[in-house]
Amino acid sequence: MIIDIITVVPGILEGPFSHSILQRAQNKGIVQIRVHNLREYASGKHKNVDDYQYGGGSGMVMMIEPFVNCIEHLQKENTYEEIIFLSPDGETLSQNMANELSLKGNMIMLCGHYKGIDQRIRDHYITKEISIGDYVLSGGELAAAVLVDSIVRLMPGVLNDETSALTDSFQDGLLSAPVYTRPAEFRGLKVPDILIGGNTPEVEKWRFEQALLRTKERRPDLL
Ligand code: ADE
Repeated sequence: MIIDIITVVPGILEGPFSHSILQRAQNKGIVQIRVHNLREYASGKHKNVDDYQYGGGSGMVMMIEPFVNCIEHLQKENTYEEIIFLSPDGETLSQNMANELSLKGNMIMLCGHYKGIDQRIRDHYITKEISIGDYVLSGGELAAAVLVDSIVRLMPGVLNDETSALTDSFQDGLLSAPVYTRPAEFRGLKVPDILIGGNTPEVEKWRFEQALLRTKERRPDLL
């Protein structure tokens, strides 16, 4: 899968994809994550990517032309199944959505800034608008990083048995059960006996009950 991310601040995305699981997924050739500087697709001496909004009002709006230049440039080389705009007024990201997107072909992600992007981009080029939660970020880059992470870790071959996504919170509609590691006792704080006994069916039962309890307490809306 190719994920092409279009942004006016490519520097924000230098870190998130160069470590750990996302880095490994790229090294294994499972995904190609490419960041494109929108300004390189702007025309004119000043390479402007934003302008005043029609009808007046404060705040600049990102222009249609640089986006379209960039998208069309990418579409000459590859076909894309989704063109996603990261926006607080999009559909809220969920584990289900990440599962679905992990099975798709190539995608482009647009990161917005300033007051927003020209509505014509949203109406005619974007296939999906995604929000990562009900709060406003300074731009779409961090949201794109979150979205990419949630998708790529689900792609076959990215995680090994130890980090398997199948036991993630949300994957079975429940939050995860608590986990412990050595020592079995730290300053009087003990690991539950059931986990130390080695009775696998009992451990599984305990984990399920704990997951259910935690979900009931913290996220009853999931049940
Ligand atoms: N851009 C700004 N805030 C955002 C959010 N919450 N989700 C996605 N993109 C955004």
